Amino acid sequence: MKFSTFMLELHILHGEPAPRNSHPQSSGPGDDFLVVHNGVITNYEVLKETLVRHGFTFDSDTDTEVIPKLAKFVFDKANEEGEQTVQFCEVVFQVMRHLEGAYALIFKSWHYPNELIACKLGSPLLLGVKELDQGKSNSHVFQDAHFLSKNDHPKEFFLSSDPHALVEHTKKVLVIEDGEVVHLKDGGVTILKSENERGRRNGISRIASVERALSVLEMEVEQINKGKYDHYMQKEIHEQPKSLTTTMRGRLIRGGSRKTKTVLLGGLKDHLKTIRRSRRIVFIGCGTSYNAALASRPILEELSGIPVSMEIASDLWDRQGPIYREDTAVFVSQSGETADTLLALDYARENGALCVGITNTVGSSIARKTHCGVHINAGAEIGVASTKAYTSQIVVMVMLALAIGSDTISSQKRREAIIDGLLDLPYKVKEVLKLDEEMKDLAQLLIDEQSLLVFGRGYNYATALEGALKVKEVALMHSEGILAGEMKHGPLALVDENLPIAVIATRDACFSKQQSVIQQLHARKGRLIVMCSKGDAASVSSSGSCRAIEVPHVEDCLQPVVNIVPLQLLAYHLTVLRGHNVDQPRNLAKSVTTQ
Ligand code: G6P
Repeated sequence: MKFSTFMLELHILHGEPAPRNSHPQSSGPGDDFLVVHNGVITNYEVLKETLVRHGFTFDSDTDTEVIPKLAKFVFDKANEEGEQTVQFCEVVFQVMRHLEGAYALIFKSWHYPNELIACKLGSPLLLGVKELDQGKSNSHVFQDAHFLSKNDHPKEFFLSSDPHALVEHTKKVLVIEDGEVVHLKDGGVTILKSENERGRRNGISRIASVERALSVLEMEVEQINKGKYDHYMQKEIHEQPKSLTTTMRGRLIRGGSRKTKTVLLGGLKDHLKTIRRSRRIVFIGCGTSYNAALASRPILEELSGIPVSMEIASDLWDRQGPIYREDTAVFVSQSGETADTLLALDYARENGALCVGITNTVGSSIARKTHCGVHINAGAEIGVASTKAYTSQIVVMVMLALAIGSDTISSQKRREAIIDGLLDLPYKVKEVLKLDEEMKDLAQLLIDEQSLLVFGRGYNYATALEGALKVKEVALMHSEGILAGEMKHGPLALVDENLPIAVIATRDACFSKQQSVIQQLHARKGRLIVMCSKGDAASVSSSGSCRAIEVPHVEDCLQPVVNIVPLQLLAYHLTVLRGHNVDQPRNLAKSVTTQ
């Protein structure tokens, strides 16, 4: 067995990025215990005070440093008291009993050569298993005895918070659950769990091995290569015609006696009746996933007739906002691992709501903890700034609206038009991607700007928020998405001949209102970039000069999918031109697995 590189995604929550704050953190001189940590220890101050009282000194500003020190403390104490050397996993179980917060941890110690321990609570942890003599073992269920037969089946193990880091090594993974300990020793692995939950602090409880089935990751190595592109974000933007096709594959069908076009979402079919009877549908998510839900809200309200409310996961949790048994709570998350969304999910489950997951990661925590759901099947998204997942999420939520509303005869024509629009959407996105060079030119013009406002409304309020988010997170330029209906309640004060303002004014029920917004901005000499439907460039610039970006016209509820693409391209080119890191923007993480 070879211990491979640690792949936990690390968040430095306490202290600046500096060698003393980097991982592994040590138990002190002699490095008896080393720990890598993804998460946050909320009671670290109390633990630190106790350890300081016992003579430990601290070198870093991290919360993590208490963990190896606690391990050393437990180890020394157990060896003072007992005759036999305490086992490594017992030390770790003892440490876990004192930790509060969220964590995925890896422990190494020279006291236990050829052993490594990992454990988790809250933060995600996967164990990748590569059988070095593939084919000899047919079993997909690893039990203690089987697994420790190491010599005839040499294996290589990988620990990661994210499946994308594993797929180039192996697709076989064990999903580690909260409270479990992975014990790698002499070429074998055992998954252990402490069974005495009640008497937790009274000494060591019974430790039992856990039987766990292997899962197989449904992603290809090619998905995590950049191919002909310079950056993942660029690749993922250009991949959207394909990812949208995959999202819809097998889900739009001709059915029923009249062979009408309809939507089939397998993961929801047993729950549609309950969803239709809901008093309310609540969308819950963070960042781009929240924006995707917001873009889908109007069509869901229209086709379902059910009130739809929006919740940013952290805010719902902060307020402990009301969630009822009669609610359907829809959790939208690309990674399926966002800590705030997961907390909100636990909360909604406790309150008895039906929980639906919309994720891009098969086997993720959100996919497992929700009652039912839909995978967006957008393929691996590596760039921190979400692009193709956003458009696939919208498409899934439009399909969700179609499925919920599918028994309403009066809206059948509308539904069929949307389904036709969905089938055509990949081609329209392909068409809008031709604006790449034009958006590069625009980026060149905006390269030295401090700020960009984006005005939208209706279906495209979400586009304004998401476009601004892209510019902010990767190009590191201040940008703000503004609901155009709120223009006179503050934003108008910012308008002058210098500040660039993008206005989304494609054809839908809000078009005339957006024309009026453009006129008012022109009257104040606003420096406008207007996104409009093909053929509308002249009419949107009739009240003053502006740079018009023409995009293909599609059904109103699908327009956000088309409209976001030029803004994604703009953010991408701005980032490259401004010399920033495209795929890993400063201070940001792809999946935010800690609060
Ligand atoms: C992070 C990512 C964003 C993402 C958000 C929510 O902030 O950088 O791209 O939108 O988390 O993540 P989720 O995986 O739940 O969609």
